[in-house]
Amino acid sequence: MCARLEAKGIEIGILVNNAGFGLHGAFDVTPLEDELRMVEVHVCATVRLTKALLPAMVRRGRGRVLNIGSVYSFAPVPMQAMYGATKAFLASFSEALAGELKGTGVTVTLLCPGLTRTEFHNRAGIHGKGIRGVSADVVARLGVDGMERGRLVIIPSFWNNVFVLAARCFPRRTYLALILTINRMRGLTR
Ligand SMILES: NC(=O)c1ccc[n+]([C@@H]2O[C@H](COP(=O)([O-])OP(=O)(O)OC[C@H]3O[C@@H](n4cnc5c(N)ncnc54)[C@H](OP(=O)(O)O)[C@@H]3O)[C@@H](O)[C@H]2O)c1
Repeated sequence: MCARLEAKGIEIGILVNNAGFGLHGAFDVTPLEDELRMVEVHVCATVRLTKALLPAMVRRGRGRVLNIGSVYSFAPVPMQAMYGATKAFLASFSEALAGELKGTGVTVTLLCPGLTRTEFHNRAGIHGKGIRGVSADVVARLGVDGMERGRLVIIPSFWNNVFVLAARCFPRRTYLALILTINRMRGLTR
């Protein structure tokens, strides 16, 4: 891919690893192929694209990588175990790369939305269960502005910041109970 881009004189200055989907339910009942597809889309695709495009950005001394994590990037998520695990991977990967790239002119940003009004919940099959959230335009604008300023982590909206603070500060057992309660309220039970 890189050779073909270079042959055509195309420089990629910004990489946005956005593709993703939700998968709800207890891990012992969800289809294995869906869980593995999630690893492929959230983790492998991000790794492949970043590996492909980052070296040229570093050589040029400029570039931006924007990874789309989630407020679920900061602690385990019962009933969405693989979603939480893959989004946690993105947080760890993004923050590590950002550290490595200091001084190169290339920055890595992790955008961590909470509930956002997109097709995400319909596609995950949890439509009609009181899903509201922040507008996609607002989240995208915050992400792009933050990326352009080279910010490391962006969490849109006050309540999403409160949620992430809880993930980081609550005792793990309390946080897991909170997530299970939220998921139960959304109709996600065994
Ligand atoms: N909406 C939320 O509440 C929310 C909250 C936190 C994080 N996020 C994250 O935000 C990102 C964007 O999601 P969204 O809210 O915009 O949802 P969306 O409207 O459903 O869009 C999902 C995007 O991912 C692509 N995609 C999904 N499955 C794919 C696959 N198997 N292979 C290739 N591409 C695939 C879709 O491409 P096609 O349209 O071509 O299928 C689409 O561009 C995701 O990483 C998601 O985890 C969303």
